Amino acid sequence: APVMAGRDFLSNLDMTGAELRAVLDTAHSMKRGEWRGVKPLSGLSLALVFEKASLRTRTTFDVGMYQLGGHAITLSNTEIGLGTRERVSDVARNLERWVDGVMGRVYLQQTLHELADHADVPIINGLSDMLHPAQLLADYQTIEAEFGSDLRGKRVVYIGDGNNLANSHIHMGVLTGTQVTIVTPVGYEPNAGVLMDAVKSGTEITLTHDLGAVAGADVLYTDVWISMGMEAEADIRRRAFRGYQVTPHMLDTLAPQGIFLHCLPAHYGEETVPEATEHPRSRVFDQAENRLHAQKALLYHLMGSLRPRW
Ligand code: CP
Ligand code: NVA
Repeated sequence: APVMAGRDFLSNLDMTGAELRAVLDTAHSMKRGEWRGVKPLSGLSLALVFEKASLRTRTTFDVGMYQLGGHAITLSNTEIGLGTRERVSDVARNLERWVDGVMGRVYLQQTLHELADHADVPIINGLSDMLHPAQLLADYQTIEAEFGSDLRGKRVVYIGDGNNLANSHIHMGVLTGTQVTIVTPVGYEPNAGVLMDAVKSGTEITLTHDLGAVAGADVLYTDVWISMGMEAEADIRRRAFRGYQVTPHMLDTLAPQGIFLHCLPAHYGEETVPEATEHPRSRVFDQAENRLHAQKALLYHLMGSLRPRW
């Protein structure tokens, strides 16, 4: 049965460890094909609101709704102008009259909270400036496929910008007991509020500027240096991050069963190179595939007990 019925999913900490367990178990089962033909979202619709570009998030939420018997409608910001053509609270109060959930990819995490405050249907974070929690579900599905479901003490090393992905990794350390290390240049550390979430839960997160932390990692993860919306800082960032590139040589220093993950898109020549994506330790395309399974599981657990209202 759905374990997060009707709730919002704006952060990985919107779920408990037990709820994460249920979602990932469902994701694994969906990947094994055990839900073929099962349509728990029949008659339900999800709006996909995009302030920024997307390949994976857009495709997997759309195909995921279809496979579960529901419907997805994509709304780009040139169409709806969140906060410009119309205020966010009015968009929320319109959408909730027609659809049963809203996925938002937005510049500001605050916009998601505003949608959630004004819409009585589940709001799902499809990436904000601060967090990318749906991505991390797929990432941990991928990690579990390699290491099993008890990840306590596994070393997850994130290298690069202390951005939305780094922040969500910290939240997953809180939920799963992985030993999370964030390696950044000085001045690009993760969000202070997110670090406080870890402190409050008694979870130790290692922050360092030292590339030596990569050696022996079970999971090495990176993301772009110049996130969407940061293009104006491109030159400064390329200089600041020099040396923090994931190379095949670096992948050779992982733990014996260690894996390399990247949420994609990759900016080759910056945070990584094509040879890392093609390296035997790379799981980046399994990870991309798992966006579909993990989000279908999430959609089932958020929306699976709603009845069509028409
Ligand atoms: N990883 C990820 O969210 O990809 P998109 O930006 O293509 O959706
Ligand atoms: N940090 C990147 C992730 C893209 C999926 C960005 O925010 O653009």
